[in-house]
Amino acid sequence: MSIHIVADPANIAPTVLLPGDPLRARHIAQTYLTDVIQYNEIRGMFGFTGYWQGNRVSVQGTGMGMPSFSIYAHELVDSYHAKRLVRVGTCGTMSEQLHLRDILIAQAADSDSGMNENRFGPYHFAPTASFSLLYKAYEQAKAKGLGFAVGNVFTSDQFYDLKGDKKKQIAQSVGTMAVDMETCELYTLAHLKKIESLTLLTVSDSLLSGEQVPPKQRQDSFNAMVELALATLFG
Ligand code: HPA
Repeated sequence: MSIHIVADPANIAPTVLLPGDPLRARHIAQTYLTDVIQYNEIRGMFGFTGYWQGNRVSVQGTGMGMPSFSIYAHELVDSYHAKRLVRVGTCGTMSEQLHLRDILIAQAADSDSGMNENRFGPYHFAPTASFSLLYKAYEQAKAKGLGFAVGNVFTSDQFYDLKGDKKKQIAQSVGTMAVDMETCELYTLAHLKKIESLTLLTVSDSLLSGEQVPPKQRQDSFNAMVELALATLFG
């Protein structure tokens, strides 16, 4: 048991999918898993465990932003012995090479967050995915014929940001492809806690054109990403 996840440790698998939205956690459990149990409902941040093609896996909502994400990832590892964390989320594209509904396999994360400055002081840590998961995701995405890219994500602290245009310009100048609000913390915690991690993101909106994927198509591209995540972990 931990503060934000109240569960029997035996009920959480070593491999956990992490959508931001707890309703998406429920959707994944209902759509892809068998023999499902719900292990958490504290704060409505649902967590489920079941089986995908015989492989035991959990799905835990994290909320939005690095501080919320950090709480759930931290407790999953420290109190429930999670060993592989895969974020399945959405991002806004900042690159002509990454289109609406494509999947970004996030190689590394830039950020404007103060969290790592706080942790590491003058040392500038480089938060990266686990190579084995990154490589497997790349191979699976290619084999499935998905629209995807491997590249860096900018993990932003603010969705509504007065300096957003300036930050987008800097991100584009170093080839960073998209923006989310969690990956930097996932990759940092994974290194600190010596576990494996990866972020997969479907492009839900464009910071270039202002376009957004309509809700129905959003669900379809989300499903394709979840299938990629499961094939990456267990394929
Ligand atoms: N900004 C930050 N996070 C996001 C976005 C965005 O435009 N789209 C999806 N996640």
